[in-house]
Amino acid sequence: MSSEGSNRRYAWGWTVAAVVAVSGAVMWQGQNRAGARQSAAPDTSTPKGPHVVASSPIEAGRYIVKVGGCNDCHTPGFAMTNGQVPESEWLVGEKMGFRGPWGTTYASNLRLFVRDLSENDFVLIVRNRNTRPPMPWPSLHAMSDQDLRSLYAYLKSLETKGERAPDYVPPTEEPVTPYLSWQPIFPKSARPADGK
Ligand code: HEC
Repeated sequence: MSSEGSNRRYAWGWTVAAVVAVSGAVMWQGQNRAGARQSAAPDTSTPKGPHVVASSPIEAGRYIVKVGGCNDCHTPGFAMTNGQVPESEWLVGEKMGFRGPWGTTYASNLRLFVRDLSENDFVLIVRNRNTRPPMPWPSLHAMSDQDLRSLYAYLKSLETKGERAPDYVPPTEEPVTPYLSWQPIFPKSARPADGK
């Protein structure tokens, strides 16, 4: 066996090893990506953990909206009238802003929000979105997939209605709409004794 021949075999061996290693890495990455896709996708299996049980997903969703207080902000006049707003007017969004250190936010029109969203996209977006106050994102994040799907079914069952709520206004800008101020105010009686 010439030393040249054994070198060639040696080099060949490394080439095969390298090809196997590279394709292995590619396969691993592929599997990893597929795995990431799977774990990012909402769980469509039988519901685990707490969830609302009702005669239909729409009914479950209506219940979640009622007990979740969504109408207080997303339905004009709801909080002020103790809920005296017909369901046909629910969740159409609010033009009255909430102004605080975060800027000015407007409760979205949830009917329009779901109009072009698939159920899976709705679950993914709501799970991962975390914008500004006073939207109670922790409450939405705590909902099971099953409950988010019911919420979607209910929102989707409502007639498309109303306009988009105004865009968010940064803290440095003055809103052009009416707004509620979330500025803490300390009346004299609430100040410490030595307060000026
Ligand atoms: C205290 C007021 C308040 C309550 C209660 C509330 N929201 Fe909101 N919500 C907001 C505001 C304000 C925004 C806009 C936040 C922003 O612009 O960063 C918002 C945004 C959202 C969005 C994002 C929509 C988009 O266009 O990006 C969803 C979805 C949503 N709310 C669903 C709900 C649901 C469902 C409930 C009831 C469980 C609920 N909200 C209760 C005030 C509220």
